[in-house]
Amino acid sequence: MADDGLKCVFKGQTFEAEIVRSRLEDSGIPAMIQNNSLSAVFSSYTYTAGDVTVMVNASDETAARALLADRSDTRPNVMRTFTKVQDLGDMDLALSEAFEIKKERFKFSELGKNRTLLMVFFNSSLRTRLSTQKAAMNLGMNVIVLDVNQGAWKLETERGVVMDGDKSEHLLEAIPVMGCYCDVIGVRSFAHLTDKAEDYEERILNQFIKYSGKPVFSMEAATGHPLQSFADWITIEEHKTVKRPKVVMSWAPHPKSLPQAVPNSFAQWMTYVGYDVVITHPEGYELEPEFTKGARIEYDQMKAFEGADFVYAKNWSAASAEHYGQILSIDRSWTVGERQMSVTDNAYFMHCLPVRRNMIVTDDVIEGPRSLVIPEAANREISATVVLKRILEGLSD
Ligand code: CP
Repeated sequence: MADDGLKCVFKGQTFEAEIVRSRLEDSGIPAMIQNNSLSAVFSSYTYTAGDVTVMVNASDETAARALLADRSDTRPNVMRTFTKVQDLGDMDLALSEAFEIKKERFKFSELGKNRTLLMVFFNSSLRTRLSTQKAAMNLGMNVIVLDVNQGAWKLETERGVVMDGDKSEHLLEAIPVMGCYCDVIGVRSFAHLTDKAEDYEERILNQFIKYSGKPVFSMEAATGHPLQSFADWITIEEHKTVKRPKVVMSWAPHPKSLPQAVPNSFAQWMTYVGYDVVITHPEGYELEPEFTKGARIEYDQMKAFEGADFVYAKNWSAASAEHYGQILSIDRSWTVGERQMSVTDNAYFMHCLPVRRNMIVTDDVIEGPRSLVIPEAANREISATVVLKRILEGLSD
């Protein structure tokens, strides 16, 4: 750059500054990124404390400011909805943002000032409830929690129903009303496991997206749990010792019929980020290929575990149209224990929790030194903070 005096045209996070610099340079305006000590920053993965600045020559300042006046593509990662991995955009940026927030989780505590998060639960939760509320508090937001089944009117969800039963209010009025009282909505609504088409349409979540008038994110819906998978991914990135670890997701027995949301999301996210993913389960438990594309399916659990770097245990019910929602096996030889872990490459054990001990995993494995279940749960605060931050950044004043 010529030295006719440098002028600051942007101040913000390193990854945003990289985008601004590229945009300026693509338009023929030389630019450089400086950190607090006025040193040049050469990589978006150089974590700097505090904001960095983008500098241009004084003679380019007016043109640069005009170019940047439209900021729509300087913040490409702002979100309106968060329901799937693709909503995160550039995954490297998402990960660097997660690590940045983990280092300094109150860095954006002004962003949510006078903003309200409404968390709507149609189903129970411990981790999602606490971690998402904490994330909102990290960002300075106010939080309202609504447990639909405790104290709210019983809601009808189908159109065309004559409402002469016990349901007093229709979701199609309740949703826009909820939207009046908040800026962002998180929704937890599990699969009912009776009608596959209805579950896989994500009817409740999509009605919130369509009718609330507010940005909506999934806190686990019928077919996916993206906040969990984001936290799982952060956890693996923190612990992996090879670039492309072998990640094995194993079905394990459970006494109740459970949805496919967590395994769907986990398979989708881990293949999307390019890990070597193997899914093992008894025959009949195949997941929808749209989620497992890129993963290998291995029906022999011991063979699947060989050389694994990470083992992710989870139960799910059958996903096929023929047996949708059914329990086809409670074979406890699939319970993850020392026998399976001994053929791995000293693998870490993961589970999203809550977990049924000695059905899904033995006491020894979950309590062992390679168990990541608590760090995984802790990272739920980080994934939720990144998601809420990006949604807040997309709100108009
Ligand atoms: N993993 C998870 O979503 O936990 P909760 O159901 O307790 O929120």
